Amino acid sequence: MTEQVTIGKSAVTTRRLGLGTNAVGGNNLFPGLDDATGKAVVRAGLDAGITLLDTAFSYGLGHSEELIGQVLKDYDRHQVVLASKAAQDFSSGEKVLNNSPKFLRQAVDDSLRRLQTDYLDIFYIHFPDAQTPKDEAVSTLNDLKQAGKIRAIGISNFNLAQVKEANRDGYVDVVEDQFSLLHREAEGDLLPYLQQQQISFVPYYPLASGLLTGKYSADVTFPADDLRHSNPDFKGERYTTIVKKVAQLQPIAAAHKATSAQVVLAWYMQNPQVGVVIPGAKKPAQVVANAQALALHLTTAEYQQIDQLFK
Ligand SMILES: NC(=O)c1ccc[n+]([C@@H]2O[C@H](COP(=O)([O-])OP(=O)(O)OC[C@H]3O[C@@H](n4cnc5c(N)ncnc54)[C@H](OP(=O)(O)O)[C@@H]3O)[C@@H](O)[C@H]2O)c1
Repeated sequence: MTEQVTIGKSAVTTRRLGLGTNAVGGNNLFPGLDDATGKAVVRAGLDAGITLLDTAFSYGLGHSEELIGQVLKDYDRHQVVLASKAAQDFSSGEKVLNNSPKFLRQAVDDSLRRLQTDYLDIFYIHFPDAQTPKDEAVSTLNDLKQAGKIRAIGISNFNLAQVKEANRDGYVDVVEDQFSLLHREAEGDLLPYLQQQQISFVPYYPLASGLLTGKYSADVTFPADDLRHSNPDFKGERYTTIVKKVAQLQPIAAAHKATSAQVVLAWYMQNPQVGVVIPGAKKPAQVVANAQALALHLTTAEYQQIDQLFK
């Protein structure tokens, strides 16, 4: 699947597979990577033909962006689709969500500086705040789009009512939200609205934090401080059921001489409701393997079988 997809109503086009970089930059909610490994992961993605990099201020509090900026010096910036996000304001000494025009303008300038570039292909409001009218926040991003600082307008973690408010003037190009074969709530009403409005959808946690790669067995144990202990997908009967379903991907993968992770990524890329899929990675080899899914095409029967398996 090497064809290009257009982001919303913008002029941004990209391949349908990107790289999520929330592990790049360390100091994160997620187990972080050291700088050398983080940069190697980004390089491996770009070298393997991935064009979109998904980062955010909150990934290492700017450090993911800094590392990506360093890597990009060795690549043609115009061949890369850079997506970043912000909403976390630490100016008071503690974290508050802020979507005010003043904050967003500063956040974009700060991202550009850390990424050592003069435009972002996509800028997302990372989380809605409680006080700023959503359409006013998006209108600020539209001003930044007109000024050439960003090329497409995104919002993330907005519920449907908030998406509708944000899109009152029709400016929203792309929504990023949790969605995977295991978490399909967005199919109910969000995805149909996005399709109707020509807004692209970028699902996060597409591999369900590794669970959909097929590498976990029913009897696996995690270290005491592992974040997966707080993830209901990794607990009890739900976990066992998921592991059994994921095992059923193996024959499809074998038929394509592929891995289950590649089959899952190909499923998203063939899903008309999904724009760009952005699996994360902690090792260069994972990115290289994931990029190979660009060449994998499932038959209609396989696509539907996977669809039904996880309905
Ligand atoms: N907008 C938002 O609020 C938001 C929130 C969360 C994430 N995101 C974005 O979405 C991206 C994806 O989310 P995510 O990275 O947390 O979860 P994910 O894509 O569901 O899972 C990625 C993890 O799966 C494992 N993995 C990846 N490829 C693999 C392979 N080929 N074989 C075996 N294991 C593999 C790696 O972890 P292990 O090696 O540890 O198993 C990797 O870190 C993030 O990087 C970020 O850019 C956005």
